[in-house]
Amino acid sequence: MTPELMEAGARMREAAALRRGAAAGSSGGREASYGRVVHAGEVDVSHGAILYLDDITVSFDGFKALNALSLSITAGELRCIIGPNGAGKTTMMDVITGKTRPDAGRAFFGSTIDLLRLREDDIASIGIGRKFQKPTVFEQLSVFENLELALQGDRGVRSAMFFRLSGEQADRIGAMLQLIHLKDSAQRIAGLLSHGQKQWLEIGMLLMQDPKLLLLDEPVAGMTDEETERTAELFRSLEGSHSLVVVEHDMKFIHELTMDNPAKKVTVLHEGSVLAEGSLAEVQGNEKVVEVYLGR
Ligand SMILES: Nc1ncnc2c1ncn2[C@@H]1O[C@H](COP(=O)(O)OP(=O)(O)OP(=O)(O)O)[C@@H](O)[C@H]1O
Ligand SMILES: [Mg+2]
Repeated sequence: MTPELMEAGARMREAAALRRGAAAGSSGGREASYGRVVHAGEVDVSHGAILYLDDITVSFDGFKALNALSLSITAGELRCIIGPNGAGKTTMMDVITGKTRPDAGRAFFGSTIDLLRLREDDIASIGIGRKFQKPTVFEQLSVFENLELALQGDRGVRSAMFFRLSGEQADRIGAMLQLIHLKDSAQRIAGLLSHGQKQWLEIGMLLMQDPKLLLLDEPVAGMTDEETERTAELFRSLEGSHSLVVVEHDMKFIHELTMDNPAKKVTVLHEGSVLAEGSLAEVQGNEKVVEVYLGR
């Protein structure tokens, strides 16, 4: 490992902390708040839901950014969430990832893990990955090195120094490069990628940590039409093996995400709660939705 890569590794761990643990690795069992022991890899989805929000309220100086929000995501589902600016979409992700504590309500990962009792880094390590709008890759490192760092997760500098890729790990990176359409750019410096390619690289870095639930906040912002289409293909290919919650304003993208299954559920948020939920055609035909969002 080069000194640059080591330094980047240390910075990545700082960034991981800053980015609310989005880059945390599998750390196995870990003591969380309230004395609860969290084991990575154990999410009880026997009741169908991987994520369950019930009556969540978040107030900022009396203003309710989330107002009795209830939402349930089935394991393996790809759920699109739309809604006007300020509807509470990002705040909802902040609650799920432990960045913001709600005033009231319940939030469960599977049927047994109470997210409101866990710290942000614990939530990341039990398999909830989050992608923020702005890509945050290591610009001066190669695409391959970025994925390698993501694979190492939050191990200490000392072990990162002696880290050697196993054949299996190298194969995983190879498969990821293929999946995110960057196979031909593996040795390219990430800073030279297009905006869309950087977004893909970040999604790849997230996937290297094998999250069960992926939260993606406006993932195609700034992408070309072609990049947007490829991103929709990528997310559809993850559906089933992963659960995805995708927040977007780009309706063409929402259409592309749902076109393989016209019954796929779309949720419309407005003023901190669910205004409508149903197929894309249903919500597009809903008068209230047209009035507050689509008709603008
Ligand atoms: N930390 C905060 N302090 C005060 N108000 C906040 C805070 N975070 C969010 N808000 C407010 O809560 C409301 C919901 O914001 P949020 O960012 O969740 O909306 P959003 O649906 O993600 O919007 P957009 O589509 O523009 O990203 C907004 O009115 C916002 O100004
Ligand atoms: Mg937002």
